[in-house]
Amino acid sequence: MTRYKVAVIAGDGIGPEVIGEGVKVINAAIEKVNLSIEWCRYPFGADHYLSTGELLTEHHLKELKEKDAIYFGAIGDPRVKPGILEKGILLKLRFYFDQYVNLRPVKLYPGVETPLKNKRPEDIDFYVVRENTEDFYVGLGGRASAPTSKMLEVKSGCAKGSKYAIGVSPTCEQAFQIGVVSREGCRRIIKFAFEFAVKKNRKSVTCVDKANVLTEVYGLWREVFEEVSREYPTIEKNYAFVDAITMWFVKNPENYDVVVAPNMFGDIITDLGAMIQGGLGFAAGGNINPEGISMFEPIHGSAPKYKGLNVANPIASILAGMMMLEELGRKHSDSDMFEAAKLIDKAVEIVLKEGKVRTRDMGGSNKTYEMGDAIVEAISKL
Ligand code: NAD
Ligand code: IPM
Ligand code: MN
Repeated sequence: MTRYKVAVIAGDGIGPEVIGEGVKVINAAIEKVNLSIEWCRYPFGADHYLSTGELLTEHHLKELKEKDAIYFGAIGDPRVKPGILEKGILLKLRFYFDQYVNLRPVKLYPGVETPLKNKRPEDIDFYVVRENTEDFYVGLGGRASAPTSKMLEVKSGCAKGSKYAIGVSPTCEQAFQIGVVSREGCRRIIKFAFEFAVKKNRKSVTCVDKANVLTEVYGLWREVFEEVSREYPTIEKNYAFVDAITMWFVKNPENYDVVVAPNMFGDIITDLGAMIQGGLGFAAGGNINPEGISMFEPIHGSAPKYKGLNVANPIASILAGMMMLEELGRKHSDSDMFEAAKLIDKAVEIVLKEGKVRTRDMGGSNKTYEMGDAIVEAISKL
């Protein structure tokens, strides 16, 4: 029996509740195909930070390097200043493991209600491939109210270690944040998007940017998109400015197959994507380094107001678990892992279609664990 090692960081708020259900469902699926996972739990998050002052240490990162994957809940807590946990834990992990792909499927399952009038599951089924290490996330910025000069360093992505010498003579108090994209950083994500379209048999790849205004950063992004797209003559290529794509997602979601976006725009448009697939309770994502250690998580946050109430929908986390099994299957050429992933997909579909178990976001009154139980039961009958 092959045994995989997966690190679990359940995190804050609803994180532990939804990840608990994810682990339960994954175990049910992999046992059915005679695989097993050793779950290694880590306490990182607000409580751990408030009691020890520790976020993620080099020592822990080295330990995580020995695992096959990371399964992540959510972080963020009203007792901690915004940014500390997000940057110190979640972004640190994405950057340390150079998980440059953030793959976020937007799929409406039958039985789930979308707020879009007259749209059905066949209309809402595409993937957002979000760049995950560069753009406005590279950690370059500062404040200035008096003349200063300093050296800033790019903290993540392919331009990591690049230095920017900044001299400011401010006319008033101000703040700045610099977005950096590199040619290689653009190439690798855009290439992933096209390869993914080929693998999934999809017709088109849509490039999202704001090359009409932020001409430097997204000018390079678009230039690379054009270059890479020429290697794929059979895939249709489309362009959309980020403001327009939010409108198109609502008006004509059926037009999309694979959408590739720079980091920040990818973040924003995937919350909209989540909403059209039924809400944040259904939206899963994978932070992927195809040659390294990948991390899977629901795209929602810690939803602090629902902490401990057991009302959150665990499906986003369960589907993130399914994506993790698919990636483990691909990386280790393990067809049983793919089989287990399919069991989860099928079971989620059955439970949602049946519509008997519905969490609060779905207009029902079932608890988080009742949804998990229903999916486990559906797996046992497959
Ligand atoms: P959020 O995603 O936590 O919640 C927004 C709202 O979405 C919730 O109030 C709830 O109505 C709904 N929702 C989210 N998850 C749900 C679920 N599983 N089931 C049902 N409804 C669900 O976003 P926020 O309120 O902007 O952020 C809260 C905290 O989470 C912040 O600290 C933020 O920085 C952090 N955050 C973390 C991550 C992450 O860990 N990956 C992602 C986004 C936000
Ligand atoms: C997400 C989140 C994160 C991001 C935050 C919490 C750092 O919004 O995963 O979508 O901006 O990527
Ligand atoms: Mn987000």
